Amino acid sequence: MKVEELVIEQMGSRHLDEILAIERKSYSTPWSPVSFKNEIYNPYSIALVAMLGGAVAGYIIANYRFNEGHVLNLTVHPQHTRKKIGTHLMELVLDMLRHRRCTIVYLEVRASNTGARGLYEKLGFRETGRRKFYYT
Ligand SMILES: CC(C)(COP(=O)(O)OP(=O)(O)OC[C@H]1O[C@@H](n2cnc3c(N)ncnc32)[C@H](O)[C@@H]1OP(=O)(O)O)[C@@H](O)C(=O)NCCC(=O)NCCS
Repeated sequence: MKVEELVIEQMGSRHLDEILAIERKSYSTPWSPVSFKNEIYNPYSIALVAMLGGAVAGYIIANYRFNEGHVLNLTVHPQHTRKKIGTHLMELVLDMLRHRRCTIVYLEVRASNTGARGLYEKLGFRETGRRKFYYT
């Protein structure tokens, strides 16, 4: 697969069934439909879906306030990992945040999630602290 084959769309309610199925496969505590809808309709959120062959292959949600961006969710369908879809979605969102004048971007990642941490480190993110009890 080439990154050029991905079609990037604004996340909408029409994607939710597929997204929720991917959430359940990917996390022990998946986001609820309401959490997604809150971000889809938040004017200070960026919510994108990467489509591959007409199906959702990955998605990302970030929001911003003043000069701070916050990446809230990055998930790639388990059948499509290690194809740079996560990197592509992150690069798009970082670019969009930069255009919205963000100078700082932060995110949370489980300490044991070495795959995601590797991706974020390659993009220049650095650990700044550990939140206790953040993940149940
Ligand atoms: C983490 C996740 C988003 C990565 O997406 P992806 O599209 O597979 O990542 P990419 O192909 O862009 O990977 C880029 C780099 O990140 C690192 N990486 C990604 N997944 C990795 C893994 N499972 N193990 C080790 N390194 C990994 C590698 O350095 C990789 O480069 P390489 O493939 O050339 O070695 C995806 O695995 C996922 O959705 N996981 C479940 C949900 C999750 O943990 N989300 C993050 C929550 S903070």
